[in-house]
Amino acid sequence: MPWVGATPVFVDVLAETFNLDPAKLEAAIAAVKAEGKLTPRVVIAVDLFGQPADYPAIKAICDREGLKLIADSAQGFGCTLNGHHPLHWADVATTSFFPAKPLGCYGDGGAVLTNDPVLWDLMDSYRVHGKAVAPDLVGRTFDHDTKYLNTRIGMNSRLDTIQAAILIEKLAIFEDEIDLRQVVAARYAEGLKGAVLSTPDVIAGGVSVWAQYVIEHQNRDGLAAHLKTQGVPTAVYYPVPMHIQAPYAAFPRGAGGLPVTEAKAETVLALPMHPYLGEADQQTIIDAIRSFNG
Ligand SMILES: Cc1ncc(COP(=O)(O)O)c(C=O)c1O
Repeated sequence: MPWVGATPVFVDVLAETFNLDPAKLEAAIAAVKAEGKLTPRVVIAVDLFGQPADYPAIKAICDREGLKLIADSAQGFGCTLNGHHPLHWADVATTSFFPAKPLGCYGDGGAVLTNDPVLWDLMDSYRVHGKAVAPDLVGRTFDHDTKYLNTRIGMNSRLDTIQAAILIEKLAIFEDEIDLRQVVAARYAEGLKGAVLSTPDVIAGGVSVWAQYVIEHQNRDGLAAHLKTQGVPTAVYYPVPMHIQAPYAAFPRGAGGLPVTEAKAETVLALPMHPYLGEADQQTIIDAIRSFNG
């Protein structure tokens, strides 16, 4: 966002789902407007760890305030809320096909989704160096390929063909993989009862695609070290919240700061999660967690 001259205002998350807290969003918008220095334009809601943000509540706020809504569904591609894709509420959804994501390619890739035809044309243009698109050509002609007529400053953001070929194949089994991830998540929830501070809560009506399976533990680093000795890899998403990272630290925060986010950064631990995690391997992981006395 700072790239395009926008100022991010960081807002805290809900303790249960780790996703944007609508009440704190509303308070942050009110505070920004009261201060009068910035003009709120757009809300970015993240589908963290694979589950949808509270889109009905967030969209109602956006509508009231005249704001656009972007769904950052990099971790949530395939998630639904009350049977709907995040685009049911959002103007634009962004996603990532990085290999660690639910639908991963074999390198870098991503997509931007929209149902808005005006935005669609604009994004089609931006992704190929600002090439001319149909609305740019109304009332004019160009004797060459229109991608060589530049009508705005764009970038190179094409999806590599080889990655697209891989994604087409993986898309065919993606729904089955989402179902398999539910089975793995359910086995963790059952097997880890009482052994950790928390296992994930999914918003009512939501289906997570479980980009990550994140537990909380009061001695997170001790547990991670213990699991490493047992041959179980883990990861911390994220050890330093974005609003504290040096390049972002000077940007504003919603009223009261982000205490929930900061507390979570101390306790979260992501366990191995993929659709093909077998029952025996998963039991080994669960047993290793249960054997930790820290
Ligand atoms: C929530 C979220 N947003 C955005 C991104 C960025 O995706 P990419 O690295 O493909 O640009 C990621 C991936 O790390 C992510 O998890």
